Amino acid sequence: MKGPIKKWHDEHAQFARLLDYLAAEMTAFHDGGDPDYDLIADIVQYLKEYSACQHHQREDVAFSLLAKRDPTLAPLVKRLAHEHRVIDNVGSSFHELLVCVLNDGVISREALESAAATYLVYYRAHIESEESQVLPAAARLLTESDWKAVADAVPSAPDPLFGAEVGLTYRVMRAQLLADATAPD
Ligand SMILES: [Fe+2]
Ligand SMILES: [Fe+2]
Repeated sequence: MKGPIKKWHDEHAQFARLLDYLAAEMTAFHDGGDPDYDLIADIVQYLKEYSACQHHQREDVAFSLLAKRDPTLAPLVKRLAHEHRVIDNVGSSFHELLVCVLNDGVISREALESAAATYLVYYRAHIESEESQVLPAAARLLTESDWKAVADAVPSAPDPLFGAEVGLTYRVMRAQLLADATAPD
């Protein structure tokens, strides 16, 4: 795996890692513990900010090129492009609930758990479909000029969490990710 496919896959791995954190916090919440609401809100904010504005935008361009190269892929990429809007909407609703909790608002446990579960199920299934069906097809079908079209369609912006310059909002989360990655088992 190399080039744009590797970057695509690496971003999925990073998103999946964040979703695992989110799931672990929600499990703590479900078991009566006190989750780290700041961490959960930052994860959802990052996924909304970076994934929706960069990753999903690039994918939408790659999807339409894939459907041109192989029309049998059209139904799949159409569904996945639609899921980008659903994930964005579900993420926004979930984030609104989290902001409310952080501002001492009263939110039912069921509402928070339901929003988190919907987000996790959708997002994880979406990544799995792309990894198992789209990336192999893209590696096989997309040409150099296709990849250039994908890159040119979405001006590249620095990744505020995993990039070289960590955004102010994400410094605590980045430090936590690094500490967990280097902690002994
Ligand atoms: Fe996607
Ligand atoms: Fe993706």
